[in-house]
Amino acid sequence: MKLAVAGKGGAGKTTFSATAARLFARAGHPVLAIDADTNPNLHAALGISTTDVQKVPFPPTTLVSRGFNGPALNEPIDDVLDRHTITAADGVRLLRMGMPEHADEGCLCSAHAVVSALLSDLDNKVDTITMLDMEASPEHLSRGTAREANTLLLVAEPYFRSLEAAKLQAKLAAETNIGRVVVLANKCRSAGDFDAIAEFCGNHELDLIGKVPWGDEVLDADAATTPLLDFAPDSPVVDAIQTICSALVPSTPDTAPPSNPDVKKAP
Ligand SMILES: Nc1ncnc2c1ncn2[C@@H]1O[C@H](COP(=O)(O)OP(=O)(O)OP(=O)(O)O)[C@@H](O)[C@H]1O
Ligand SMILES: [Mg+2]
Repeated sequence: MKLAVAGKGGAGKTTFSATAARLFARAGHPVLAIDADTNPNLHAALGISTTDVQKVPFPPTTLVSRGFNGPALNEPIDDVLDRHTITAADGVRLLRMGMPEHADEGCLCSAHAVVSALLSDLDNKVDTITMLDMEASPEHLSRGTAREANTLLLVAEPYFRSLEAAKLQAKLAAETNIGRVVVLANKCRSAGDFDAIAEFCGNHELDLIGKVPWGDEVLDADAATTPLLDFAPDSPVVDAIQTICSALVPSTPDTAPPSNPDVKKAP
């Protein structure tokens, strides 16, 4: 499965992506997490320090050539993954798309093309769950970065502008080959918050996959620069993310398995 996680800025995309990636890995799936945000920070949510992640080079744009069917990798995908991923806790492999290194250097279309090409070749790895943590802008749909994903998960908060952003991205996704679009209601402080999101989704034919409550522990985990799954493994937020993981991939149990001692611990 190739799951692109999108939504309005600050909705909780990175928190969900990192936590779900590790829960999928604990359930025995090979997991590749791609930081497709040009302001990358998925590594921090996965517990990898900036010093460590900077030792791994971004995939160079020379890896990709453009053909009639879109961007394609020039090298075997396993070589690309070996050179450009770092392993996080629970065995999750992280690849970062790239980021601007200098002012005025122009757009990052080529970095987006690398992700698109990678996703295409990941079709051959049917057991792998790929989590794509997108940037807030709907550009990943207009540029086609997420075109090769098979599920788009839109994280929405219980306020109108966040829901409108999810609606726009769902509309754009309907013009692509992405087969499944679902909405996750995040940061719900009350039943009323969830009901408001459910009503919006009902009115706009959006498939609401589940809800994640507001949790102060998510902010506390950020402040402690510790992944949520390590900081508050038994929290309602982690429980809710686990339930959504099993709704997305039915072979995933709906209670969090313990960390697998055979795979890498948090660095
Ligand atoms: N369920 C939650 N309860 C409380 N706070 C949350 C929850 N989910 C995320 N947050 C907080 O919301 C903020 C934004 O989260 P996160 O970075 O995951 O969002 P994002 O959508 O990836 O943001 P960006 O658009 O900048 O990439 C963080 O401070 C995070 O701790
Ligand atoms: Mg983010």
